[in-house]
Amino acid sequence: MNAEKLFFPDPQMRFNDLKNWEPLLKDQEKKRSSSSASPKKPPTTLRESFESDEDGRREGNVTEVNGNRVAIFRHGKNLFGIQANCPHAGGPLYKGDIEELPDGSLCIRCPWHSWCFQLSTGKCIWPSGQNDVTVTVYPVHRRKSDQAVLVGFDSFHKKYFSDRDF
Ligand code: FES
Repeated sequence: MNAEKLFFPDPQMRFNDLKNWEPLLKDQEKKRSSSSASPKKPPTTLRESFESDEDGRREGNVTEVNGNRVAIFRHGKNLFGIQANCPHAGGPLYKGDIEELPDGSLCIRCPWHSWCFQLSTGKCIWPSGQNDVTVTVYPVHRRKSDQAVLVGFDSFHKKYFSDRDF
């Protein structure tokens, strides 16, 4: 945990309610392998696999904590938080698909124009030539006692102090 950060809980979001992308990505990989063995079968997209998933769990989640909108994603036991909207043209990153990169790291693909951002660093990895574009990444963890999801910040948002004279 980041001891120097201030962590804020989402009042409603619970770890167990978040859609777990880890088995979905594994399943997609299996389907890809089997479709390459039988070329007549159309490729399955992540979106299709979610539509057939009727477990009722939430996909990409957006929360507003400490004056910031943050997209939250679960992959196995890990949680990731990034700014909710895309720096390209404001697309909803919280509705994007997660993909696994060849090095095993994860990226989020924006649903509007498919730009990809690495979840751990926030760096834009697609399209090429946008290396200097990043999204803000937030540390996120689960509080074991009640499964609450907490997002970490360096400081309180300035709105907490805007009405006060110091
Ligand atoms: S708004 Fe996200 S890629 Fe264009």
